[in-house]
Amino acid sequence: MNETMQDDIEAVIWRRDRLLLLDQRLLPAQRVYLEYEQSAAVARAISEMVVRGAPAIGVSAAYAVVLAARAAFRAAASNWKQAVADELEVLARSRPTAVNLFWALQRMQALIECLPADEDPEAVLLAEARRIHEEDIAANRRMGDAGAALIAPGSRVLTHCNAGALATGGYGTALGVIRSAWRQGRIDKVYADETRPWLQGARLTAWELLQSGIPVTLQAEAAAAHLMKSGAIDWVIVGSDRIAANGDVANKIGTYGLAVLARHHGVRFMVVAPSSTIDMAIARGEDIPIEQRDSEEVLCLAGRRIAAEGAEAWNPAFDVTPAALVDAIVTERGVVEQPDADKMRVLMA
Ligand code: MRU
Repeated sequence: MNETMQDDIEAVIWRRDRLLLLDQRLLPAQRVYLEYEQSAAVARAISEMVVRGAPAIGVSAAYAVVLAARAAFRAAASNWKQAVADELEVLARSRPTAVNLFWALQRMQALIECLPADEDPEAVLLAEARRIHEEDIAANRRMGDAGAALIAPGSRVLTHCNAGALATGGYGTALGVIRSAWRQGRIDKVYADETRPWLQGARLTAWELLQSGIPVTLQAEAAAAHLMKSGAIDWVIVGSDRIAANGDVANKIGTYGLAVLARHHGVRFMVVAPSSTIDMAIARGEDIPIEQRDSEEVLCLAGRRIAAEGAEAWNPAFDVTPAALVDAIVTERGVVEQPDADKMRVLMA
């Protein structure tokens, strides 16, 4: 396996005092980085899916706070904290489900509270945003090894959405485990759901795995039941946008269905997520806010209307898988098998 090929994919880059985001709406056809100098524009980029995936959203938001503080300090040096607080609120409204967004904003806010009001905050905040970014990559590499250790040689795996380098600071969560396990010779075959309506599987996961030299077979998610029934899958491996204190897992719409299918067919189900995705303030999955996105995303494909005129669409972006259907939650702090509230409390203590 070629390490440089793996690390070549960067969704979020800080370069020459600006934030660069790989425009994931254009992949795999075009690899275009958009430049950001204003935090409100980053908030829009998050809402509009230029950057997506829970940890990548958190890292982007942290850098956006640096942009907000720079602008606020230049405009009104002594009153910069109030101006940044307003920008933080705009960022917090960009997407509701991925808790990494709020986690990163809170971490930046806690630092802001400790800074003197009359000194330029940019260097200190940038160092913190870089730390958040680097810690995410390091966590993913740890989870890659921990998750791979659960996978027996010769396994066949199925993943959903994109939980790769594109969705994180780098390396990926679910795809990080798949990368590590592939390199260790534990995986024979990788299936990826195409993941309607944004097609993160077909456009992003397939591209990312192929960039890393890992062969991938795509399927419409409706094919998953048939595939599992045929005995072709050993593990379903997915990421998460928010994990509740009892181990319930919110992830891309369709994940819950895969978990039900996996249990029915004796297939194991692994969730890979850093501890920044665990929200101990939310007791159970039912309380996780689920983003409802524009019905146009379902009614249209690649900008063209495909649904019958007059049809309405329901478009929840995420669903919740009960902890009872999860075999393992893999984090950088350790692996929780058969998660429940007690085990999650010990993990996060
Ligand atoms: O709507 P998206 O593309 O942001 O959804 C992403 C997912 O559901 C991922 O599985 C999740 O954020 C984990 S990414 C490591």
